[in-house]
Amino acid sequence: MKVLVATEKPFAKVAVNGIRTIVEKAGFTLCLLEKYTDATDLYKAVADVDALIVRSDKVTKEVIEAASNLKIVVRAGAGYDNLDLAACTTKNIVAMNTPGQNSNAVAELAVGMMLYMARNCFNPGTGSELKGKKLGIHAYGNVGRMVAGIAKGFGMETYAFDPFISDDRMKSEGIIPVGSAEELYALCDYISLHIPATEETKKSIGYTLLQKMPVGGCLVNTARKEVIHEEELLKIMAERPDLKYCTDIAPANAEELKVQFGTRFFATPKKMGAETAEANINAGLAAATQIVNFLQTGDKTFQVN
Ligand code: 3PG
Repeated sequence: MKVLVATEKPFAKVAVNGIRTIVEKAGFTLCLLEKYTDATDLYKAVADVDALIVRSDKVTKEVIEAASNLKIVVRAGAGYDNLDLAACTTKNIVAMNTPGQNSNAVAELAVGMMLYMARNCFNPGTGSELKGKKLGIHAYGNVGRMVAGIAKGFGMETYAFDPFISDDRMKSEGIIPVGSAEELYALCDYISLHIPATEETKKSIGYTLLQKMPVGGCLVNTARKEVIHEEELLKIMAERPDLKYCTDIAPANAEELKVQFGTRFFATPKKMGAETAEANINAGLAAATQIVNFLQTGDKTFQVN
């Protein structure tokens, strides 16, 4: 059996070594395709493999069609909007993610970004503190919970909106639940976004929500760029010279926004939320273990299709 790790943005070496150990201990062969820039390289690499591990790499219908032996694809990470689930299902390929494994890295970055924005992107001048500010967690999943946990240490007052999580659970974790996204945005100085990119959520964060934010409000996006309605974001930031936006997933016109909005806008040069050795190890090793378990025992825990 062949297991391919195809990562346009490679895992840390230590994570690859760990993946190799798990795969080879099971008697399988590990193949690596790193830093590829052309999808045709991926088509060639998947041709004869049984299992595939990816990060944000796009596993399109074309990739699935090129992989005649493929039985399982694991997205080493949380969001699986990069997998064509319908194509996987059609070919009876199991698709999985590794929920929670890289969440702490993303949560730490989200809070780091809040601090950076609160301190004028580390430029001279008077900033503000996170202590006592209201934080709104938009989607209380693995990352949202961890952001809330860190924010507690900063003395922030934390609210959350998530229709899939019960109020009782939030309350038991020290979070104040709110009944709608509108309410969350109207209340909170900082909003940390953790919604997945789906047909329902794409472009869902726009003018109507953002114009509700209090003076000096800051939106922190470590989720997906697709959930932002970029034209509307631009419009409200131009109208409201107090609003701030920072993101780990740069919009296409990031350079322009930097010039237009100065320290009210920040984007990382390349998505780096899960770029820690720890997150790479956790997600990479979980992906390899899930593949071995599936191929050896048929275990489908974490299947998403
Ligand atoms: C995820 O969904 O797990 C994160 O967005 C991390 O993505 P990455 O593996 O491309 O860094």
